[in-house]
Amino acid sequence: MPRLIAISNRVQTETEGETANRGGLAVALAAGLRASNGIWFGWSGEQTEEFTGQITFRRANGVATATIDLEAQDIEEYYNGFANRTLWPLFHYRLDLTEIARDFAGGYARVNHRFAETVGPLIEPDDLVWVHDYHLLPLGQQLRERGFRNRIGFFLHIPWPPPSLLISLPDHRELVESLLDYDVVGFQSEEWRQAFMDYVTAHLDADIDGEIVSFGNRRTRMLVCPIGLDTADFCSAAHSMAAKQSQTQLMVSAVGRDMIVGVDRLDYSKGLQERFIAYQQFLTNHPELCEKVSLLQIAPPSRGDVPSYQQIRAELNALSGSINGEFATIDWVPIRYVNHGYSREKLFGIYRAARVGLVTPLRDGMNLVAKEYVAAQDPADPGVLVLSRFAGAAAQLEGAVIVNPHSSEDMADGIARALAMPLAERQERHKAMFDCIVKQDVHWWSKTFMEALEKAGPKPAARLLP
Ligand code: G6P
Repeated sequence: MPRLIAISNRVQTETEGETANRGGLAVALAAGLRASNGIWFGWSGEQTEEFTGQITFRRANGVATATIDLEAQDIEEYYNGFANRTLWPLFHYRLDLTEIARDFAGGYARVNHRFAETVGPLIEPDDLVWVHDYHLLPLGQQLRERGFRNRIGFFLHIPWPPPSLLISLPDHRELVESLLDYDVVGFQSEEWRQAFMDYVTAHLDADIDGEIVSFGNRRTRMLVCPIGLDTADFCSAAHSMAAKQSQTQLMVSAVGRDMIVGVDRLDYSKGLQERFIAYQQFLTNHPELCEKVSLLQIAPPSRGDVPSYQQIRAELNALSGSINGEFATIDWVPIRYVNHGYSREKLFGIYRAARVGLVTPLRDGMNLVAKEYVAAQDPADPGVLVLSRFAGAAAQLEGAVIVNPHSSEDMADGIARALAMPLAERQERHKAMFDCIVKQDVHWWSKTFMEALEKAGPKPAARLLP
């Protein structure tokens, strides 16, 4: 088995013995890293006075990590800048929030170069290299230019935008060409792969044969491979005391009311304002249900140094306050809005206590909350998932009530339909979705991608820097 070198912007380091709060990527990579004695490389999340390229090695629960610190200018221009003020909004179809600045592009190129320089010496000839997400699109090219002929794959966790949006990026062509230095590029859904192929067809002199794009002497396989949950492990959280306690606590606090739950990172792509407005519309349309339902929205803040995130936070505070002011009674608050995260066990209990899971992003690569909500339900009496058609998960979770997050009326109808759904229909829909998340879980995802990468070849000729 070849050794795996996984590379991503963030690396989730663990403390020996503690695995409870691991995110999707950590779970997905852990088995392959452990079995192959591999390394997970990335940014420590820490700032240093001056970039030195010094690597900190750690090992916990059999997973070896190697991290570097970045200097303030790198964090500002690469992470806050090009990654989160240019690419993130653009790839989520928010041209209005996309900021184009040469400093950002320069910082992005510099940090990708720094990643290549520091991870390079760790890579041995037979290693499989797997790069993750929009922070590191050109890293494969950077490695090829240093002579690495390894099999190198890339997985995009977020959407790929249509060519008409992508061309707003001054160096769009260079960015896309850099992706063709990978052997395999993975997308969350067919829609994102098709958008990529549309760009290649319109703007590059490349050949497309099924999943394969040939460009010069390079061949890249474009794979659709939706990420999943560690479903079995997630479901085992059901038996923990923390899960049972949080379920009971919520049911007691809901005092016979139906609970609707939303759990999202505080991000404009998640459609939280639209969701609150739709809930307001639902309360207006159904006065008979006021005081009989309650929305719990959990939204831990993220990327707080980016202005659009500061703005959405302020707007949501105001909106939840005004809806509560309009509809609340002395013993009922329509929206409980919480700005911090919960452990996996607690979340499990929260999902299970909720009649409706409301997952309504305006655009999302996948959305694992939708899958977690389904996994947590009691199959004998499951709640209903209300899901945006613009989440990658909608291509897999056909048993959800699919809604258009841009229409508050459609979402209000979806909530009402979910709350009124008869048991037999709930069970049938849940079973279809549960079967899918069991079959296409996170282990299936990493195995599918790694097998495609192992099969890749022949390796492109080295293109050394002049
Ligand atoms: C999304 C991205 C990830 C990112 C995560 C959290 O899921 O696809 O790459 O790590 O958001 O964002 P943050 O900026 O806190 O890393």
